[in-house]
Amino acid sequence: MDPSVVDALRSAEGRALLTDATAHDNDAHGRAAAGDARAIDPLKAASSLRRAHPGANPSLVSAALSQVRMRRRARPRLGDIVDSLLMTDDGSEQATRTVAAELRAVRYLGSGATHVADLGCGIGLDSIAFARMGLTVTAVESDPLTAALAAANVEELGLADRVRVIVGDVTDDTVLATVLASADAVFVDPARRDPASRNEGRSARVTDPESWSPRWSWVVGVAARVPRTAAKVAPGVPHELTPVGGCATWTSVDGDLVEAEFAWPAMDSAGNNSVRRRALIVRKGEPTSLTSTIDLLDQAPPPVGDIGSWLLEPDDAVIRSGLVSDLAALLGGRLLDPRVAYITTDTDPGPSPLAAHFRVELALPLHIGRLRDALRERGVGRVVIKKRAIGQDPDDIRRVLALPPGPHTAVVLITRIGDDPWAFVCDIR
Ligand SMILES: C[S@@+](CC[C@H](N)C(=O)[O-])C[C@H]1O[C@@H](n2cnc3c(N)ncnc32)[C@H](O)[C@@H]1O
Repeated sequence: MDPSVVDALRSAEGRALLTDATAHDNDAHGRAAAGDARAIDPLKAASSLRRAHPGANPSLVSAALSQVRMRRRARPRLGDIVDSLLMTDDGSEQATRTVAAELRAVRYLGSGATHVADLGCGIGLDSIAFARMGLTVTAVESDPLTAALAAANVEELGLADRVRVIVGDVTDDTVLATVLASADAVFVDPARRDPASRNEGRSARVTDPESWSPRWSWVVGVAARVPRTAAKVAPGVPHELTPVGGCATWTSVDGDLVEAEFAWPAMDSAGNNSVRRRALIVRKGEPTSLTSTIDLLDQAPPPVGDIGSWLLEPDDAVIRSGLVSDLAALLGGRLLDPRVAYITTDTDPGPSPLAAHFRVELALPLHIGRLRDALRERGVGRVVIKKRAIGQDPDDIRRVLALPPGPHTAVVLITRIGDDPWAFVCDIR
């Protein structure tokens, strides 16, 4: 897309094209959901839009159709804000989930920040969240088209008086010095994708932190210069990169681990900067957090013991932030094996967003024949298999179990205790 298309899409004609393309797209998807296999047809959509707007430039028609396609794809992650956004595929793939950006903005506000420098702002989702929280933002983006999209998005959302978008390379000392002169906080979301190498339509992930843009050592250098710096990183980031004296937050949204954030020092909605690790779990829009003031490498070994009446499967954000022992302590529980993230308790832990819980009906060393007999005796004809620290695939286990039909279902958790595989039959219903 050419940067001039951004203005054209925001003109009266561009807006009319977007409205009609959206209506056509909604109608096609509605018919597809009702069983019409041929309803979604990009060629038909283009010719219908061209017929309705005979004078429109064909490249603008196709840009409007692409925006509508990208908005549909981004909506599950970004929500209804997509209706006000213009984007590129790369920009939307890298954009922060709206809820994660909002919770981050709450932390910046709580830490006393007033003016955030968003260094590498992409299409602007973090800048928008900061501004919506009342913070002033200077957003810098090296790619002119992406910067134009960020500026358009900010303006469309009525935030132009709070967010200034600059085209520039933040690793240029002059650009950085100018931006930092007015900011009292920094946010960096380094690009971790390589648009030149694509895989199934998506740009490939770059795993080496020194190949991110900006590179990780540069981010750490900025953090040393500006108190209240945080960087968004991939949730699988190596724990060794965790900032010493800072805080690492892992966020999950409805069970998906979506990002990690490293902050120097810790930022907190309550202004508390002693937190070293945080699991932030968002379920149906509601956040819950579990924190520790102890660095990952300094934590005490977890309590370990025999199986109790309940088994808990912690959320991935709890596991990645190394807070499984803390959760066990909070619930008066223990781990079955110090290296495996299953917690067991003697009393009902009750429902919690931090961990799924299962009532243990039977514990036995894993032996397929014995497990099959036990399930059959209990009338279990259907199982949901969950596993940790065991190589076998749950579908393979279900296949070899070959359960005969039965009136009940059960959850079977399979794991290793020491060197021995165990099965726990839970929640027979
Ligand atoms: C992961 S994206 C940011 C996404 C953004 N947080 C959002 O939610 O929309 C990173 C962006 O940084 C930009 N970028 C990379 N290196 C940069 C640099 N040296 N200076 C300025 N921008 C840079 C990239 O072009 C990309 O748009």
